[in-house]
Amino acid sequence: MQLNELLVAISVLSSLTATPVTAWSPTNGYTPGKVSCPEGTLLRNATGLSQNETEWLKKRSPIAKDALQEFLTRGTVNFSDDSLVKKLFSDDKNVPKVGIAASGGGYRAMLVAAGMVAAMDNRTVGANEHGLGGLLQGSTYLSGLSGGNWLTTTLAWNNWTSVQDILDHMSDTNTSSIWNIENSILSPGGNNQTATNEIFGAITKEINGKIDAGFNATLVDVWGRALSQYFFPNLPEAGAGLTWSTLRDADVFKNGEMPFPISVADGKYPGSTVISSNSTVFEFNPFELGSWDPTLNAFTDVKYLGSNVNNGESIDNGQCIAGFDNTGFIAGTSADIFNLVSSSPQGAMFGGIISSFTKKFLPNATGNDTDIGIYAPNPFKGANTMDQQYSSALSEAESLFLVDGGEDGEGIPFAPLLQKDRDLDVIFALDITDDTKDSWPNGAAMVQTYQRQFTSQGNHSAFPYVPTTEEFIKQGLNKRPTFFGCDAQNLTDLTYIPPLVVYVPNTEYSFPSNTSTFQLNYKLEDRISIIQNGYEAMTMGNFTKDSDFLGCISCAIMRRKQESLDVELPQECEQCFSTYCWNDKSTSQNSTSTATNHNGTWTNSTSATHSGSHNTTLLSSVSASATARAESVSSNSSSKSSSSKSKGAANLLNAKNTLGAFALINAIVNLL
Ligand SMILES: *[C@@H]1O[C@H](CO)[C@@H](O)[C@H](O)[C@H]1NC(C)=O
Ligand SMILES: *[C@@H]1O[C@H](CO)[C@@H](O)[C@H](O)[C@H]1NC(C)=O
Ligand SMILES: *[C@@H]1O[C@H](CO)[C@@H](O)[C@H](O)[C@H]1NC(C)=O
Ligand SMILES: *[C@@H]1O[C@H](CO)[C@@H](O)[C@H](O)[C@H]1NC(C)=O
Ligand SMILES: *[C@@H]1O[C@H](CO)[C@@H](O)[C@H](O)[C@H]1NC(C)=O
Ligand SMILES: *[C@@H]1O[C@H](CO)[C@@H](O)[C@H](O)[C@H]1NC(C)=O
Ligand SMILES: *[C@@H]1O[C@H](CO)[C@@H](O)[C@H](O)[C@H]1NC(C)=O
Ligand SMILES: *[C@@H]1O[C@H](CO)[C@@H](O)[C@H](O)[C@H]1NC(C)=O
Ligand SMILES: *[C@@H]1O[C@H](CO)[C@@H](O)[C@H](O)[C@H]1NC(C)=O
Ligand SMILES: *[C@@H]1O[C@H](CO)[C@@H](O)[C@H](O)[C@H]1NC(C)=O
Ligand SMILES: *[C@@H]1O[C@H](CO)[C@@H](O)[C@H](O)[C@H]1NC(C)=O
Ligand SMILES: *[C@@H]1O[C@H](CO)[C@@H](O)[C@H](O)[C@H]1NC(C)=O
Repeated sequence: MQLNELLVAISVLSSLTATPVTAWSPTNGYTPGKVSCPEGTLLRNATGLSQNETEWLKKRSPIAKDALQEFLTRGTVNFSDDSLVKKLFSDDKNVPKVGIAASGGGYRAMLVAAGMVAAMDNRTVGANEHGLGGLLQGSTYLSGLSGGNWLTTTLAWNNWTSVQDILDHMSDTNTSSIWNIENSILSPGGNNQTATNEIFGAITKEINGKIDAGFNATLVDVWGRALSQYFFPNLPEAGAGLTWSTLRDADVFKNGEMPFPISVADGKYPGSTVISSNSTVFEFNPFELGSWDPTLNAFTDVKYLGSNVNNGESIDNGQCIAGFDNTGFIAGTSADIFNLVSSSPQGAMFGGIISSFTKKFLPNATGNDTDIGIYAPNPFKGANTMDQQYSSALSEAESLFLVDGGEDGEGIPFAPLLQKDRDLDVIFALDITDDTKDSWPNGAAMVQTYQRQFTSQGNHSAFPYVPTTEEFIKQGLNKRPTFFGCDAQNLTDLTYIPPLVVYVPNTEYSFPSNTSTFQLNYKLEDRISIIQNGYEAMTMGNFTKDSDFLGCISCAIMRRKQESLDVELPQECEQCFSTYCWNDKSTSQNSTSTATNHNGTWTNSTSATHSGSHNTTLLSSVSASATARAESVSSNSSSKSSSSKSKGAANLLNAKNTLGAFALINAIVNLL
């Protein structure tokens, strides 16, 4: 063969083999498959970042640096003195490190956070003129939880697509557009029963494939496969073979052209229903699954989940499993609130729907764990990484149980970004949780993360001081961006100086984006409007509420490095900090100090409740009139809803729809 023919042959061959073999599930479908184990142990102690993350950062840092320099230069263009920006970028070790955290809250959180992230993305039309365009390009980490994780997962595993690109294709009438959630996930074909049957039939087959191969499958598998229809509509079988570890082989990740995506889930002890600040917080990143908490203190290679191991070593003669780390399954795990819904009194009425889904997709399921993400065999079995004084339950169990990352009350995925080794200077906290009775945030997630640092499970982390949720509301901190931890000098009592937190709550500008967490379908216009409102919440109404906002964000990003270098703060930043920084004084001064800086221009309209003008979903209309029943259940129950998620269920039940809910439930059940 001539050399040129040979080369052609090789390139054809490699282009054929390059895609599936290593990156996708070895079976090319949902069923995990056997592979040989890699050299060495799959487990490591959680001491420091993984070698792989450290290597990856070397790729990412110079790219993020250039983008951040461009952003900060734009942000400070009107400053009287530009020496701070110059100084920070004259030495790599002074370049600020930025993280973004997107909270939970179902599709609401996904869409609002999409708008907020779009405001930071230089690929969004307008973001470089009246937005924070380039900040996303300048950030190093992007963490997501539950609905927020649906956003980060959608972007990252679709070749780092942009929200702008998703919007540009949203009105395509074919079903291959991302986030086409016109129909409820409970009846994905809408009025077309054949289409619904086809989709559910495919899911059933995929689930059975996993079970037949000897793995446990639960509703979380069903959930993940169903969600994938909306996140990966362009991949074969909606990404049935797409794995989380696939990202390692994607150029855009390998070359450091995107931030490091992290998904957060909570551990649940076998037989226990308690999820508290003592829960073990897990993170999935493209390399690993594990936890920094003392009850685990370990990470495992995410690619080989499902392998039978003891202390990280194969006990199957060097045979491992790959393909268990299905991307949709992990997205479903981070957003698994079934266990909560079914155990909360208000959620009792969903029991019918959940059990009918269980019967339909998992007819042979036994036991009580059908609503939990099961990672079995336990990848941490036999681990000796945990601190002796803590329970060794996580290393003794046969299965690792993971649920929604917000169930411990920490609705914003801070944990991975607070890790000292990650060394962040600032975290943008996108809070789209539904704490108030009309589904706006009230800072509860901030308070919970603040408090966790004082528990034995959380005392390896630090978080700035925050006020109570009552003060959040009283001071309007739940309606506009606020900076927490502005003065490192004030944080010296904590385990270490935490990053500055730029808190950005979901609030109303052009659209009431306080929809229910349980709303499972959204009309096209509403999706677009919610994304736009998120953009506006992130930018203070495209800077119309404060033309200095871009400069103030720049100050927040530079603050920690400016403090540690002990160089002068630009005078514009002084002004910004007096406007945007929270400190205890705001409380004692009867909570008007931040607001008065803006002469009362803050919007008052945000307290408007979500009027029934939107397309109500099957579930929200179903739920509505069951209020009376649910209340009677909850009134004689000792467990008042203790987390924002169960409050979400309560909100839903407070809706004022009195149509025939039970008839509807029956209709759904019969339909299945
Ligand atoms: C983790 O640390 C423990 C205690 O220091 C040590 O005994 C163990 O060998 C380490 N495990 C791994 C996988 O490095
Ligand atoms: C966005 O930022 C990246 C990284 O700095 C840059 O390569 C790209 O050209 C920018 N794109 C636009 C549309 O500005
Ligand atoms: C704000 O900017 C976004 C993105 O350019 C745009 O879609 C939206 O219409 C703007 N909103 C207002 C109120 O101008
Ligand atoms: C991924 O996106 C990049 C540009 O951002 C593009 O060059 C590349 O072709 C895309 N890859 C795939 C597989 O679509
Ligand atoms: C219903 O869905 C099926 C399967 O996707 C499709 O073949 C059929 O054309 C659809 N029917 C209508 C009326 O759209
Ligand atoms: C997983 O499946 C096996 C086999 O069906 C079963 O024995 C085991 O109890 C299951 N584990 C869990 C946690 O449900
Ligand atoms: C958390 O664990 C510590 C130590 O085991 C225990 O003292 C504390 O009561 C636990 N807190 C909760 C809320 O369970
Ligand atoms: C880390 O990188 C090495 C070399 O690139 C690779 O062999 C290994 O599988 C990676 N491990 C993880 C956990 O990504
Ligand atoms: C359920 O169990 C029965 C009896 O063992 C078996 O015939 C059937 O195939 C199982 N169904 C599924 C979906 O696994
Ligand atoms: C299932 O839950 C019930 C009620 O909480 C409990 O009595 C039973 O022991 C549990 N079964 C298993 C197998 O854990
Ligand atoms: C920092 O501020 C908080 C809240 O105002 C206060 O409770 C704490 O004592 C201060 N710490 C230091 C070291 O100044
Ligand atoms: C502070 O607020 C309380 C309760 O809202 C009010 O009674 C009090 O008069 C206020 N104090 C000042 C100094 O405004």
